[in-house]
Amino acid sequence: MQQFEGKTVVVSGGAEGIGLSIARAMGRRGMNVVLTDIDAGQLEVARQSLDAEGIAVQALPLDVASLDEWRTVAEQAIARFGKVHMLVNNAGVGGTAGGIENADEREWRWVVDVNLMGVAFGAQVMVPLIKAHGEGGWLVNVASMAGFGPLPNAAPYTATKAAVVGMSEGWRMELAPDNIKVSVLCPGFVNTRIYDSGRNKPGGELADAQVKGDDMSAVIESVVTSGMDVAVVGERVAEALLADETYIFTHPNYRPSVKARWQAVDAAFERAEQSPLLADDVVPDLPFAG
Ligand SMILES: NC(=O)c1ccc[n+]([C@@H]2O[C@H](COP(=O)([O-])OP(=O)(O)OC[C@H]3O[C@@H](n4cnc5c(N)ncnc54)[C@H](O)[C@@H]3O)[C@@H](O)[C@H]2O)c1
Repeated sequence: MQQFEGKTVVVSGGAEGIGLSIARAMGRRGMNVVLTDIDAGQLEVARQSLDAEGIAVQALPLDVASLDEWRTVAEQAIARFGKVHMLVNNAGVGGTAGGIENADEREWRWVVDVNLMGVAFGAQVMVPLIKAHGEGGWLVNVASMAGFGPLPNAAPYTATKAAVVGMSEGWRMELAPDNIKVSVLCPGFVNTRIYDSGRNKPGGELADAQVKGDDMSAVIESVVTSGMDVAVVGERVAEALLADETYIFTHPNYRPSVKARWQAVDAAFERAEQSPLLADDVVPDLPFAG
């Protein structure tokens, strides 16, 4: 675990669930942990649990949707540990399950602010700190299998998770010269409190699903709570980082559905290749071949 020993990781949404699991796994491998979350009470419980294991941990409040708060976290992390080597952009909300008509502006903005802008702001503030010391490092973004395939009744969530997959792929190329390895974690269902993310929704604790009488939330809760044990996820991330995996999957049983999607995409390309409208001389050369 020499790669991780004595280095520092910043984890967003680290008070519980997948973020805490990753923080614990990295802390057990000798990393200093900067644990951040919007939920101050739960954050303190998590800090104590890592501290009790002998992990060097600093707990800082952070709403990932606030660029200013990210900057404060950066200053405090540097003041405590000197350098940052890894950012885990984990904080995320599921949003309120429901169809097109149910996702109002407030819902869209909340999910986009946390799941997408939170990741963008985190990278914007922390990546320069990783670049600054020249030792290289890691950027781990937490997306979802929803970033790789359809999840009906969850448009804001799937939009943001697909975006995080795309951002990660681009950043992986962009940051390779700085020896910053970018990975995107794409779990299936994991047993956490994500089904109740309305607890952190600005402007009200009551989940909108209850207000609207939408019964989808009960279905989501039952699927999530029958999901994978969260402790496995952090260990899986550590394993995948050592192997420098771009896509970190935790649920191999999604492979056939992802494969079916790529086969449908490939078949669509085949039809495009056969279209008389798209002959070679009409199609410009590829500018950024990956
Ligand atoms: N649990 C699953 O089935 C599952 C599947 C795929 C992806 N994910 C992703 O994993 C990540 C973690 O989710 P989880 O399942 O551990 O859920 P969780 O609800 O248990 O944990 C999320 C954490 O993020 C925090 N948080 C919420 N809003 C925040 C904000 N604005 N700023 C900072 N922190 C905030 C919460 O307080 C909580 O501690 C999310 O990005 C989620 O989309 C979860």
